[in-house]
Amino acid sequence: MPDGTSVDYDGLIPNNVGLNDDSRVRKALETWHPGYIDWWRDMGPDGFQEALVYLRTAVSVDATGWAKFGFVRMPEYKWGILLAPAVEERRIPFGRHKGEPAWQEVPGEYRAMLRRLLVIQGDTEPASVEQQRHLGATAPSLYDLRNLFQVNVEEGRHLWAMVYLLQKYFGADGREEAEELLRRRSGDADAPRMLGAFNEATPDWLSFFMFTTFTDRDGKMQLEALAQSGFDPLSRTCRFMLTEEAHHMFVGESGVGRIIARTCQAMKAAGLEDAADVAAVRRLGVIDLPLIQRKINLHCSLTLDLFGSEISTNAANAFNASLKGRFREARLNDDHVLLNDTYPVLRLVGGAIARQDVPALSALNMRLRDDFLDDVAAGVGRWNNVIERSGIAYRLHLPHVAFNRKIGEFAGARFDPAGQPLSADEWGAREAALLPSSADGEFLASLMRPVQEPGVFASWIAPPRIGIDNKPGDFEYVKIHE
Ligand SMILES: [Fe+2]
Ligand SMILES: [Fe+2]
Repeated sequence: MPDGTSVDYDGLIPNNVGLNDDSRVRKALETWHPGYIDWWRDMGPDGFQEALVYLRTAVSVDATGWAKFGFVRMPEYKWGILLAPAVEERRIPFGRHKGEPAWQEVPGEYRAMLRRLLVIQGDTEPASVEQQRHLGATAPSLYDLRNLFQVNVEEGRHLWAMVYLLQKYFGADGREEAEELLRRRSGDADAPRMLGAFNEATPDWLSFFMFTTFTDRDGKMQLEALAQSGFDPLSRTCRFMLTEEAHHMFVGESGVGRIIARTCQAMKAAGLEDAADVAAVRRLGVIDLPLIQRKINLHCSLTLDLFGSEISTNAANAFNASLKGRFREARLNDDHVLLNDTYPVLRLVGGAIARQDVPALSALNMRLRDDFLDDVAAGVGRWNNVIERSGIAYRLHLPHVAFNRKIGEFAGARFDPAGQPLSADEWGAREAALLPSSADGEFLASLMRPVQEPGVFASWIAPPRIGIDNKPGDFEYVKIHE
């Protein structure tokens, strides 16, 4: 039996799930592998498949020192199947089955619901790789290029993680779903990815850093909720994925922070104080702060849609079934069953935003979304610190949850980022100031030129304070022509 910490690293599929002794699942995964590699070559990072990239690879699930760094060609990356160590005698922490021993097999009555949760999570992982596949051509430095590829290979590993669960616990159905996960394509008219934000384009590096700040953070919240699951293999899988996910949000938040730092520095050097003087700021070859605000408005609202409707019976059912819990369930001070509790939800009542107490079980999406906003607000606060330290008078804000929504209570309603209702005419007049315009996109595209000399950075982004794995500033993170 695998002990949950030792990793078999030498085989085709590194793992700590005892694949060597599980010929049925090993065979299913080995059959799936060539299709995955084809997908990676077709839909993974365009133009860099032969480059040597300084990547971390998970080689253990030990909290201290689970990764090793080294130069790898991405198609040869070791995409392993790694579960966090089992918690001895773990009990289900919430829902109808609270207090029962955690399940090691799928309860028959929840099979369909669990399969759907796995497929939805699994679908997001390859989608983001597809969305980001052209960014290598315009990376602002080798450091950033490497970070992009690190995120990409780990999203690939997250796909493996979900495919393992499908193939191990769902037989022929699971194998079919695993094939479908390679068949759908981000933005494809006939076979799109399952969720809206994962069919949007990621055309430039500001979009990439915003995506990793906001949308990867939705991923973190979903994984946190699934890490509570009564189905123990899912809980252990998600717990290990979360260790990798932290780096994705670091890439996003520090990326935007470095763009802001560079903008403020260039404005100061040019004696420019007024952030609203966009033409003058853009002439400096940096990205104006109002455009960064519009990108926040867009990416935050797209990501809020991923949490689903504020009032949701699906979310209630998954919680009741002890399949999907809340953010930091164990730290919450209630009965973890929620049959008699309420939770305040923002609703659209007669065209106005109203706060209503609703049964807590039906409001779990809203609650996870609130936890998300708390988490991301801390990041925006750190961006504002960068601006404040530079002495420029400007503040970035998260948009109101009613702004620019396609799903839930505020779908299709017109509110500004401060939560004030707008008529259709007012929206039309203000849209270009609230969301990125095509002119913004052209401006960003004009800045996107590859910088591939070690230690050099594009005009519009500051270097990082420290290198990856403590490497020096001029380290050649990607050897493009080896
Ligand atoms: Fe992921
Ligand atoms: Fe991620």
